[in-house]
Amino acid sequence: MRRRDKLCIGMSVAPTWLAAEGWRRSDSGIEGLYSAGFAGRIAEAAEAAHLDFVFRPDASALPLAPLEQSFGFASLDPTLLLASMVERTSKIGLVTTISTSFTHPYNTARQLMSLHWMSGGRAGWNVVTALAGHENFGLTEMPPSPERYARAAEYVAAVQSLWKSFPADALLIDRESGRFADTGLIRPAAHHGLHFDIEGPLNLPAFPGPGIPIMQAGASEGGVALAGQIADMVFGQTLDKATALAASARLAAAAERSGRPRNAVRLLPGLSLYLGETREEARALFLATQARVGREDRIARVKRATGLDLTDWEDDTPVRAEDLPAEHVPPLPGQRAILQALIASETPSVRDLLARPEVLASVHWQIIGTISDATEIIADWFESGAIDGFVAVPGGSWACFERVLGELVPRLAAAGLFREAYSGDTLAHHLDA
Ligand SMILES: Cc1cc2nc3c(=O)[nH]c(=O)nc-3n(C[C@H](O)[C@H](O)[C@H](O)COP(=O)(O)O)c2cc1C
Repeated sequence: MRRRDKLCIGMSVAPTWLAAEGWRRSDSGIEGLYSAGFAGRIAEAAEAAHLDFVFRPDASALPLAPLEQSFGFASLDPTLLLASMVERTSKIGLVTTISTSFTHPYNTARQLMSLHWMSGGRAGWNVVTALAGHENFGLTEMPPSPERYARAAEYVAAVQSLWKSFPADALLIDRESGRFADTGLIRPAAHHGLHFDIEGPLNLPAFPGPGIPIMQAGASEGGVALAGQIADMVFGQTLDKATALAASARLAAAAERSGRPRNAVRLLPGLSLYLGETREEARALFLATQARVGREDRIARVKRATGLDLTDWEDDTPVRAEDLPAEHVPPLPGQRAILQALIASETPSVRDLLARPEVLASVHWQIIGTISDATEIIADWFESGAIDGFVAVPGGSWACFERVLGELVPRLAAAGLFREAYSGDTLAHHLDA
């Protein structure tokens, strides 16, 4: 059963629709990738569609392999990038990514509260413990997951103490009496923990409105527990509905264990969308975008997802459900289920299987089809309580990005699943409205 009245929808600012072959299109404008105007165009379009927020994932490392063929992980600093959208927009939330493994809570508390003030209450924080990048911060290896999450929990608590240390009420700005602030209300943060010693107070007052919503990304036990404690939203990686239902149930239980309402944490999986006027057009866009993924790579993907190695198979040999090794555990839950369903229903030849979009599926939930297809699938997941919304990561081209905002979102709104207009101008308001 659906947990909320309306979907919560975010748009990735990482231009996923220009990844792979997308940037090579003549209209991609890729030369402007590292300019403020580029992301400003995205934010304006997302605000015109009344989305809850724009969102910038981030990494603190540069793997070289993907960079040879596309922009990979090279990007502007996400918080500065979102700050550049402040004047171009007035309603939409601005969710930045800051790693708790490689940065310090004092700087983060200040940066986020600065973005919150500058945007009039629209900042959000995606808390990540990060997958890589230790070599850039004096570490010999990535700390193990429990250690990263212990630091993350303390980090978030320290940031929240800093935000409370200079409360909004302390700001008087009373011309008549000449009192600027009531320093009696300003307290030390006095955070003295295992990882951080921070006396405080923060050198910036709290914004006098709703606070800064927190997003979390990370699906291990530690990640889910942290989300249960502190998150308003989780950026999820749920490729199929069964995985989303299970993830939602885990998040509800984690919230409850932390003394919060079961629906406190919204599950928002990434949703890769390739949309066309027809299914054929959508599929053609997808395949054109993945054109450089060769046979070897496709075989490797089938193996990763299902454990089946097709290296020595003839092109015409049919692949049957019984051929899939029973014991295989894929890197992402749901990856195997998607291919298994396809193989069980169609018994495709090796040639046909390797040509299928499902083999090239992204690390996210993926819909390749028409606006009606996407509306129907999203409505089904939402109505059955699998998700609270999604973070759109459109694929293929600017035209597809525009179709998501200009056609799909209005269709969801017309179906009563999404807002027709903003009723407030802070991110916390959008999430609760
Ligand atoms: C959907 C999703 C998105 C993520 N996005 C980021 C990101 O933008 N930047 C980052 O450094 N790590 C990102 N991570 C990594 C997580 O912060 C975390 O370090 C990683 O998933 C390992 O934790 P886990 O075992 O709890 O999943 C992401 C993880 C997931 C599942």
